[in-house]
Amino acid sequence: MLPRKVWNSVISYPKNIPSRCGTERLKANPRVPSRCALALVKRDLQAHRDISTLKAQERPQHQKTSLPIPTNTSQARSPTTIMASIRRFFYSQLFVTPPKPTGDLTGKTVIVTGSNVGLGKEAARHFTQLNASTVILAVRSIEKGEAARKDIESTTGRSNVVKVMQLDMSSYKSVLDFAQKASKELERVDIAVLNAGVTRAAWEVFEQDESTITVNVVSTFLLAFALLPKLKDTASKFNTRPTLTIVSSEVHEWATFDERNAPEGKLFERLNEKVVNGKEVSLNNRYQVSKLLEVLFVRAFCERYPESDIPVTVNLVNPGFCHS
Ligand SMILES: NC(=O)c1ccc[n+]([C@@H]2O[C@H](COP(=O)([O-])OP(=O)(O)OC[C@H]3O[C@@H](n4cnc5c(N)ncnc54)[C@H](OP(=O)(O)O)[C@@H]3O)[C@@H](O)[C@H]2O)c1
Repeated sequence: MLPRKVWNSVISYPKNIPSRCGTERLKANPRVPSRCALALVKRDLQAHRDISTLKAQERPQHQKTSLPIPTNTSQARSPTTIMASIRRFFYSQLFVTPPKPTGDLTGKTVIVTGSNVGLGKEAARHFTQLNASTVILAVRSIEKGEAARKDIESTTGRSNVVKVMQLDMSSYKSVLDFAQKASKELERVDIAVLNAGVTRAAWEVFEQDESTITVNVVSTFLLAFALLPKLKDTASKFNTRPTLTIVSSEVHEWATFDERNAPEGKLFERLNEKVVNGKEVSLNNRYQVSKLLEVLFVRAFCERYPESDIPVTVNLVNPGFCHS
């Protein structure tokens, strides 16, 4: 149960910021048991769901992202907002071509989760093409990861760069094992792209939560927190500024997120109700809710840890609608 004063302080940011969030606790004690780390992630997610009630002008300038953020749920679903979102969507799909990535990543190490197919694989291919020294494909199937590695090597002509590591986001143990292995075995981590995500057709529970929430939200931020000490370490050892990117989606704007009205501290319980008012919860909307939670969480994280306080750039990307 989240104490009322913490809840209020989240809502009234920036005047009164709650003192700590999971990241610092993990940093203070990197051997924090997984159950505790998980509780911190969940507690923070509980606390941050209402960050959307902040008025736009209360948000620090540097936190304004290109992703449109609804200031409350009803605004998110208003016909005007939806129409604006649809106009933006078609405009960017039809008339905007993202520039081909340029730059030189010589010496840098990049992790991309869910990179055996789709957007993750293409991102890993770009990083390899840009001369990254090590690119980690963090995938749940080593076999599929190896096939992706060979494909990337053959199209980029670079060998001994791409490596495959096991990561199953449906298991918290696997997430923490991966983070520990990466932190121990990799000399540095300059870029972590947390891309793995699911849209589920059937209701399933992983690690006590509905599977979309487990994979897209809780495991994603558990991994983010578990990798953060390594990213900070890389920043200080190599005098650089690492980047932690969460792959979100435009559809976060279309989420109804009725679950936000759950009693204080009961958000995850509400998200675990398969049938509400006699109707099965829509898993299409659940995907949108998961992407909205990602946006809210990153915003809240960045508001608590401004770029001047933390040597890591934390951001979100919206890929648009892509063939994958
Ligand atoms: N494509 C779009 O139009 C679009 C638009 C907006 C946002 N996005 C976001 O972009 C990201 C990538 O999407 P995509 O279209 O490339 O999807 P995709 O082709 O379905 O790829 C998803 C990746 O996530 C991995 N994954 C799924 N469950 C996992 C788990 N439990 N543990 C580890 N890895 C897991 C998949 O591995 P397996 O192959 O083993 O299943 C796959 O590598 C997602 O976060 C998605 O929400 C996509």
